[in-house]
Amino acid sequence: MRLKAKSIISVSAAATLACVSWYLLGGQGASQHGPSSLSNGKESAELEVDDQTAAGSLRRLVNGRRIFRHDTFGSEDFWGGTLRLHETIKGEKLGGLGPGLSPATALALGLKVDVTALPIKLRKAIKNELVDLDDPAITVALLQLDAVVGVKGFFDDQSDLSAVGIQCSLCHSVVDDSFAPGIGRRLDGWANRDLDVGKIIAFAPNLSPFAELLQTDEETVRAVLNTWGPGKFDAELLMDGKAMRPDGKPAATLIPPAFGLSGISTHTWTGWGGVGHWNAFVANLEMRGKGTFYDPRLNDIDKFPIATMHNFFDVRETPDLITSKLPDLHFYQLALTPPKPRGGFNPAAAARGKIIFEEKADCARCHVPPLYVEPGWPMHTPEAIGIDSFQAERSPEDRYRTAPLRGLWTHTKGGFYHDGRFSTLLEVVEHYNSFFGLNLTEQEKLDLIEFLKSL
Ligand code: HEC
Ligand code: HEC
Repeated sequence: MRLKAKSIISVSAAATLACVSWYLLGGQGASQHGPSSLSNGKESAELEVDDQTAAGSLRRLVNGRRIFRHDTFGSEDFWGGTLRLHETIKGEKLGGLGPGLSPATALALGLKVDVTALPIKLRKAIKNELVDLDDPAITVALLQLDAVVGVKGFFDDQSDLSAVGIQCSLCHSVVDDSFAPGIGRRLDGWANRDLDVGKIIAFAPNLSPFAELLQTDEETVRAVLNTWGPGKFDAELLMDGKAMRPDGKPAATLIPPAFGLSGISTHTWTGWGGVGHWNAFVANLEMRGKGTFYDPRLNDIDKFPIATMHNFFDVRETPDLITSKLPDLHFYQLALTPPKPRGGFNPAAAARGKIIFEEKADCARCHVPPLYVEPGWPMHTPEAIGIDSFQAERSPEDRYRTAPLRGLWTHTKGGFYHDGRFSTLLEVVEHYNSFFGLNLTEQEKLDLIEFLKSL
């Protein structure tokens, strides 16, 4: 069963590659390219100039996708080896701890299942309600099939779950729910706003590594993790140790999408750096994979006391399981295009809203179409957008980055702005209306919202 699922995955990746190369190379097949095999179309002729680059791009795309979806960067030594998360997933009955993690609970925590990894027989059994979704053994079987998006199970010789590692797709992919809620085909790059990362981490039996870093006890760590809620994660907690905002609310931020990033020069809500910088940051410092990371800005005892004390500004692990993967991972991310909305907005109102966005409300000054951020250095002080400075000051730049708005319709759960402070788009528009004194009529506000939903 396990082998079968694996071969389905590799066959489909190869088929995609073959099919796309065939298309790009003028329908003649990847192995026979050359001037004569290309059709007369202009696009094909352009590829003729440098079809090695085209073929190389496809290889990198497929490889980058595999890394984004499936690579754990060696993080299983942390999530499994140290936190022992696999033990509470298995539960007592399978030799682990506690009640175990049933598929029903996993889905309720926002974890997603890739239907294409399930053998047809299993799909039928689920449809016919012959599979007990309250049984943690099923979760372990799903891990064995590599069907849980973003979580990889490691199995020993006796097929016993011996560790779990995490992948980029955990937070930055969802599924299309085509089979059942939470079960479907992967949608890479979409922010998983159902995922309760804090609760999933808190599920691990051993939180002492966090407690030691944060100089507190495990119960406090667990309590903080449980405050985050769905769709949020705190990427700065292990740098500065700030678990709460000054107003007592959790310091976690929303998970952003990982699509629509090409052409934009600074990334994350607070503009830590380029995609390449952040990928290395996350794989090393957040996912706890094993690699190399250098960023002397983290060597700042006042701003990042924990990162400074633990040398997070200069990480050198051997073997390095991250660095060689960064080029293709980056390439794939830049290729992820924001999906266009399929309905869900009023086209006439959106067309009116576009004019308001560009003229009366002057949103386009910062959200410059078609990037929807400023080309250049799209960073703003908290005062410039009328909000507090807490999260901005947790990054080296003390600023917020203009949010890219394309595909906004895919992440309306959890609210808007870095911490979800505005629960609806109307609240966002009301904020700008009063902060910038825009004098928008009620109709203009609604039109603007329809435009935002159309991006
Ligand atoms: C545990 C959840 C989680 C995982 C796993 C994760 N990310 Fe993220 N990602 C986030 C959050 C939260 C942010 C926002 C951080 C911030 O602004 O402080 C983010 C931000 C980003 C951004 C910036 C997006 C933008 O709008 O500029 C990119 C790019 C990104 N992540 C890529 C990755 C890659 C690549 C991986 C795997 C190496 C990964 N992430 C793994 C949660 C996650
Ligand atoms: C001065 C530059 C600037 C102007 C003008 C501006 N924005 Fe923004 N916008 C930002 C920044 C910066 C953020 C990110 C805030 C954060 O991360 O908390 C943002 C965030 C947003 C978001 C939230 C996106 C998300 O993913 O949560 C929306 C929606 C938005 N802006 C719409 C608008 C509209 C509509 C207008 C015009 C009425 C506008 N903006 C004008 C800079 C600007």
